[in-house]
Amino acid sequence: MRRRHANTLGRLTAVCLALVAGVLPGPAAGERLTIACGRFASEYTLCREAAQQWAEATGHEVRLLAPPEAADDRLALFQELLGVRARQLDVLEIDIVWPGMLGEHLLDLGPELGTAVEDFEPALITNNTVRGRLVALPWFLDLGLLFYRRDLLEAADLAVPETWAELEDAATVLQDGRRAHGDNRFWGYIWQGWTYEGLTCNVMEWLGSWGGGQIISRTGRVTIDNPHAAYALKRAADWLGIISPEAVLVQTEPESLAQFRAGHAAFMRNWPYAWAELNAPQSPVRGKVGVALLPRGGGDHPHGATLGGWQLAVSRYSEHPALALDLVRHLTSAAVQRERALTGSYIPTRPALLQDPELLDAEPYLALLTRPELALVARPSTPVGDAYATVSKLVQRAVFRILDEQAKVETTLPALSAELDQLGRAGVAR
Ligand code: GLC
Repeated sequence: MRRRHANTLGRLTAVCLALVAGVLPGPAAGERLTIACGRFASEYTLCREAAQQWAEATGHEVRLLAPPEAADDRLALFQELLGVRARQLDVLEIDIVWPGMLGEHLLDLGPELGTAVEDFEPALITNNTVRGRLVALPWFLDLGLLFYRRDLLEAADLAVPETWAELEDAATVLQDGRRAHGDNRFWGYIWQGWTYEGLTCNVMEWLGSWGGGQIISRTGRVTIDNPHAAYALKRAADWLGIISPEAVLVQTEPESLAQFRAGHAAFMRNWPYAWAELNAPQSPVRGKVGVALLPRGGGDHPHGATLGGWQLAVSRYSEHPALALDLVRHLTSAAVQRERALTGSYIPTRPALLQDPELLDAEPYLALLTRPELALVARPSTPVGDAYATVSKLVQRAVFRILDEQAKVETTLPALSAELDQLGRAGVAR
């Protein structure tokens, strides 16, 4: 059964506006701001709590808008609201690959922030700067990680896999062992294969770990049609039905997390927030999980990890831009980022916090960030600018057809490459 595609925009907008989840208090005299934030469950709660602190301290009110979970649906909603210059949205949480697409609708925060910007990771500030305008402040950083069942690996006397071959072997051993005990729902490795932005993230990691490039180079050259990329995609397709269930083709991050958390898989690819969710008091696998870099290919290839993360931006159509920026300053402050790291495993965007011993101790994936064999892979949003969503959708559709065995890698990659080239020639991608 296939998951159904997103609703029409109109319906999506209506549903989301209906989700405005309460107004956080402030005296009647204050202004009312609306923020769209929180992707997965814990993030929404954390955003709500921090916004409430601000509302109480300033005497203003904050309305929370819970946007759709899937990044693509959320983008469609924001494009719709910003496209009609909706005054009702003041602050919005945007993906690391969106500044080029939404920048024209967002305020330049640079002049007001001045040197405060220097406290944030410079690469993220560069990412969020579009034609000289700083259109969003980095809120948290993401990278794709491998979560594994430490207890099962130890019981089978297996090491944490370093390469895809080792992962395939360990996944097979653990899966066979559980199946022999009648656990037919248990799978070796789960990831996100649905046609949405998360699939692009998985693809970048496969390519990165086999030297297959970044789909489009930093200078805008289409590079996807190469033998390393073809190999990486074939290898992933071969997992289906063997160590990965066909159901990964309808999975996004929350479905993978639910399956792993319920004890039905040995390995999972997901983002750092999964660490907090897996170790929450009510989690069936609490204390039984480890986290590592995703496997590398062979030879000298690095461990690939897609660079993700979310930023806070102020809409140009906000009627309260100064207050909105003040709310953004609070939410991205060191104190709030620290709390979000400890409670929800959201990686801070202030380098100073990445040295904090208490954080390093509690959040084991932070130490992985500085491993020399890690290659953080950026999606090609900077070279293609506002064509990024189109580029990513073409990639998702092509790869999905390969995974689903509707198409062969040998014919799909040249066709995809030609489509991407054509976009560039049409002046859409630049
Ligand atoms: C995570 C990442 C984001 C990415 C998304 C894909 O939220 O932070 O950058 O686009 O997952 O599902």
